[in-house]
Amino acid sequence: MKIGIICVSDRCFRGECEDTSGPAIAECLGDLSTGNEYRLVPDEKEMIARALVGLCDENGADVVFTTGGTGFAPRDVTPEATREVIEKEVPGISEAIRAKSLEITDRAMLSRAVSGIRGKTLIINLPGSPKAVRESIAVVLPVLPHAVETLSGNTQNCGGNYGK
Ligand code: MTE
Repeated sequence: MKIGIICVSDRCFRGECEDTSGPAIAECLGDLSTGNEYRLVPDEKEMIARALVGLCDENGADVVFTTGGTGFAPRDVTPEATREVIEKEVPGISEAIRAKSLEITDRAMLSRAVSGIRGKTLIINLPGSPKAVRESIAVVLPVLPHAVETLSGNTQNCGGNYGK
């Protein structure tokens, strides 16, 4: 799978800290990824949207993960930027992440993350911390191959005993 990773963080963008969440995404994907494209943007809706569109339309990513900017802070706008570029929302993915995460921390309900489809790309918002990234991505990993296969137009395995 071709993977896009967007770190959304004012502080990382200004060079005040290092992004450890983007690398955590890449690490969790391991061999599932055939290549990662990485972008670092500040918490600016237009810049997030542009990075998403670039990775979907120009780089042809199968899945784009964002990390950060999903909470309540005044500058958190990743879900809003994502909604601007997706054509179909996929609520089940974000619901599943929140449901599993709530077993770990009550604060999971503070993530406003969304997921959706743009063209043949699946976009998934993840929270900002590397811990939250690892916990969240573990929820979606089992369905990613089937999701990507279906998005690419191959529906052969849809009715079968595929996955759990
Ligand atoms: N989800 C998981 N699995 N683990 C976590 O530690 N942290 C929460 C939540 N989701 C967390 C989580 C916290 S503390 C916040 S504020 C929100 O995600 C939003 O995070 P963000 O603003 O960095 O995107």
